[in-house]
Amino acid sequence: MAGSWISGGRLGLVSLLKLALLAVRTSSAADLITANQSLSGEQILVSSGAGDFVLGFFSPTRSGSRRFYVGIWYGKVSRSEKKVVWVANREAPVSDPAASELAISGDGNLVLIDQSRTPVWSTNTSAGGGSAAAVVAELLAGGNLVLRDAVNSSRIFWRSIDHPTDTWLPGGKVGLNKVTGENQRLTSWRSSEDPAPGIFSLEIDRNGTSQYLIFWNRSRVYWSSGPWNGEIFSLVPEMTRNFVYDFKYFDDDTENYFTYSVKPSFNLTTRFVMHVSGQIKQFTWVDNSQQWILFWSQPRAQCDVHLLCGPFSVCNERIAPHCGCLRGFEEASPASWILDDHTAGCRRRTPLLCADAGAGEEDEFYEMANVELPDDRRSVPAASTGECAAACRGNCSCTAYAFDGGCSVWYGGLANLRQLGDHGGRLFLRLAASEFTGSKSGEGKIVGAAVGAAVAVGALMVTLLALLWRRRRRRRFSALRVADGGLVAFWYGDLRRMTKNFSEKLGGGGFGSVFLGTMAEGNVVAVKKLEGIRQGEKQFRTEVSTIGTIQHVNLVRLRGFCSDRSRRLLVYDYMPGGSLDHTLFGDQAAPTVGWKTRYQIILGIARGLAYLHESCRDCIIHCDIKPENILLDGEFVPKVADFGLAKLVRRDFSRVLTTMRGTRGYLAPEWISGEPITAKADVYSFGMMLFEIISGRRNSEEKGEEENQAGFFFPSWALRKLGEGDIAALLDPKLKGDANLEELERAARTAFWCIQDDDSSRPSMTQVVKILEGFVEVGMPPPPRSLRLLGEAPESIAFFSSKPGSCSSAVPDGGGVSAGAQPKSASLTTPAD
Ligand SMILES: *[C@@H]1O[C@H](CO)[C@@H](O)[C@H](O)[C@H]1NC(C)=O
Ligand SMILES: *[C@@H]1O[C@H](CO)[C@@H](O)[C@H](O)[C@H]1NC(C)=O
Ligand SMILES: *[C@@H]1O[C@H](CO)[C@@H](O)[C@H](O)[C@H]1NC(C)=O
Ligand SMILES: *[C@@H]1O[C@H](CO)[C@@H](O)[C@H](O)[C@H]1NC(C)=O
Ligand SMILES: *[C@@H]1O[C@H](CO)[C@@H](O)[C@H](O)[C@H]1NC(C)=O
Ligand SMILES: *[C@@H]1O[C@H](CO)[C@@H](O)[C@H](O)[C@H]1NC(C)=O
Ligand SMILES: *[C@@H]1O[C@H](CO)[C@@H](O)[C@H](O)[C@H]1NC(C)=O
Repeated sequence: MAGSWISGGRLGLVSLLKLALLAVRTSSAADLITANQSLSGEQILVSSGAGDFVLGFFSPTRSGSRRFYVGIWYGKVSRSEKKVVWVANREAPVSDPAASELAISGDGNLVLIDQSRTPVWSTNTSAGGGSAAAVVAELLAGGNLVLRDAVNSSRIFWRSIDHPTDTWLPGGKVGLNKVTGENQRLTSWRSSEDPAPGIFSLEIDRNGTSQYLIFWNRSRVYWSSGPWNGEIFSLVPEMTRNFVYDFKYFDDDTENYFTYSVKPSFNLTTRFVMHVSGQIKQFTWVDNSQQWILFWSQPRAQCDVHLLCGPFSVCNERIAPHCGCLRGFEEASPASWILDDHTAGCRRRTPLLCADAGAGEEDEFYEMANVELPDDRRSVPAASTGECAAACRGNCSCTAYAFDGGCSVWYGGLANLRQLGDHGGRLFLRLAASEFTGSKSGEGKIVGAAVGAAVAVGALMVTLLALLWRRRRRRRFSALRVADGGLVAFWYGDLRRMTKNFSEKLGGGGFGSVFLGTMAEGNVVAVKKLEGIRQGEKQFRTEVSTIGTIQHVNLVRLRGFCSDRSRRLLVYDYMPGGSLDHTLFGDQAAPTVGWKTRYQIILGIARGLAYLHESCRDCIIHCDIKPENILLDGEFVPKVADFGLAKLVRRDFSRVLTTMRGTRGYLAPEWISGEPITAKADVYSFGMMLFEIISGRRNSEEKGEEENQAGFFFPSWALRKLGEGDIAALLDPKLKGDANLEELERAARTAFWCIQDDDSSRPSMTQVVKILEGFVEVGMPPPPRSLRLLGEAPESIAFFSSKPGSCSSAVPDGGGVSAGAQPKSASLTTPAD
């Protein structure tokens, strides 16, 4: 009975809140736990101030198991999904909250007493008032539960933020108490339904160097922040004070810790979590979409987490869940596996025979291609693959071998084995011979034959049916060729032939790899294998035919598509000039593009985007403008690529964004602030890219791991030069000053207008085109506020990812500007005069 509200999910919480309101109205004690007012059952304590947090009993399981904990969660945001930020009795659940009690004990501590009247958790401090009447427990506005003097609220004896669980809230501490020796570390939950301390923890270096480390089993470090230099952690430059957060580091005789706060002008709800995935993750609540978005995470690659997948399991960055059992193995603990706890790994389905077992059949090896070889290899002398295999076979505890000139063998559970896309080594995994043939022994033979015959007949019918169905589908396709506005619907097999089995890779982007292909007529095309599409076929076709209707000389033309079972591919015109980043920042071999061509490239991109935003029927926000997504044809005519794809991969957009390299610095501030994304977000990215076209260099240079200083940020520097009137300094030095200075200044000013913080101050792409064409004068831009701050930490937004769908659901802005209209933003232009 007591558990019913828990499994009720959303409803339960709502009624809980009602209950809380009732409690507040009827009894003034609902925000305090006092000597004669304890908490049990469905009662909750609401934080002081705005009531942003709630304390009470909760159960993290969906399955209705009777494990209850006392915890703190958000009271106003995230109502549909209870996000617990602190847990008292992590390891000691109670089974009956109605009969349990969170109360002040006789010695002045806060204790949790279970249904059998046994204390299972306590604040356990001797600093308290010594008697029950002298202290009260209060939940403060920031989600901090304190035990304090009953009369003087400044006398605090114990605080929950000094004892974090897995979550680090603004104002909280992660550090070391040098007096008590307590390590205030964040420890992951054991699984998504078990708050007991898990295997991963984030803590400050106990050796006294000012850095953060993430540990596996409190003993092995697999990620570090690098030391603090007074401003930043050397390996996490984005974690500095920036325009949203204030990070601070303290170190004195009694403690050293790191804390942070959100600047008051940003009304952000945010939390860092030491996640069960072994990554430290920062989430931010976006009110517009009523969702938590992943803002930042480290280590960047999920598979960099030590032993994430446990023994005999392989980590694959590209698919979720990331851990999978090796061939011939099965989950050792399926129950924890589905709760994201993969540490138990996998176990062998069929035992190895070993050579000396004398059973006749020898163990065999299964080849795994493109893997990062596991840790703890041992070298053995062997001159060939065959000898290496024999060496492994010869020892019963050998589980795998690899031969890459030298012979390596493994004896254990193949720790940290990782599946890579298209490189890496080959690992030969030892399996029982029966895993290869599927042969059964003795008695099953006759049954086997009968089954075999049935299977053969069945297979024949399936083949026939498939053929029939294929015919019908073909007919459906040819009908579609017209409907899809000239798009060709390809068979997967056609594309495989055209691309010679996807052998010639042109590149890989956020949405998938691109391969060179040749059509029957000899036309060269680029075939993009989309990744992470979860859409049904019908929806995919709808989106694709929309993209197919968008045709402009400055947009890459879509020629066809393939939607074959789960496979989704797009076929585009091939652009021999490659992508703009190669032309701009490629090696010396690439010819330097002169100013005149550069200006035409800038203008072309602006026209392409203006068309996307304002002229075509279904207006599209690109969401990912950067040099990598601008292609050039043989005559340096720029073509915007990948438009409309953000919409296609809507479900996985967050993943795509986080994995996109080079996205840093192109994202507009509204991606962070959670305001609606409009076409002006593209304008911002275009502005950032404009600087790079002018200067021929990346706005922010990649920094070496060793470097402690914040990197150089071109736009900040350019702003100063523009102010000094030194326009020529902005030009790519490779051009040796050979440029039209008037055009250069116009382009630079436009860039600054495009990167204004407030999206309404940015011009629309149509206005940009007019400015660049010289029809509209452009005034001196005000310095963007975020620029200085971005300059301090250019990556501060690098790891940001959008909440799924925020791009695709965005509304274009500026669609109403027609050719003769006044520019929208009056401050943009100064009279030509
Ligand atoms: C309370 O703290 C003492 C030492 O300060 C420790 O020995 C004891 O185990 C703690 N009790 C609980 C319930 O944590
Ligand atoms: C609660 O305890 C306080 C003192 O500890 C006392 O003044 C107050 O009357 C008590 N309230 C109730 C409802 O018992
Ligand atoms: C309350 O406690 C604080 C901290 O211990 C102390 O500085 C202050 O004087 C106290 N105030 C009163 C009214 O006792
Ligand atoms: C801390 O110091 C000990 C002893 O010098 C050393 O073994 C250990 O590796 C150090 N830990 C880290 C994280 O540097
Ligand atoms: C973690 O470390 C403890 C000792 O510190 C050890 O007993 C335990 O087996 C380790 N866990 C794993 C999964 O290796
Ligand atoms: C801050 O944001 C929360 C939710 O995101 C909202 O409920 C609250 O009204 C906002 N406060 C202000 C001052 O904007
Ligand atoms: C197999 O290898 C293990 C680990 O190196 C070793 O301890 C063991 O003696 C070997 N067994 C045989 C039969 O060589």
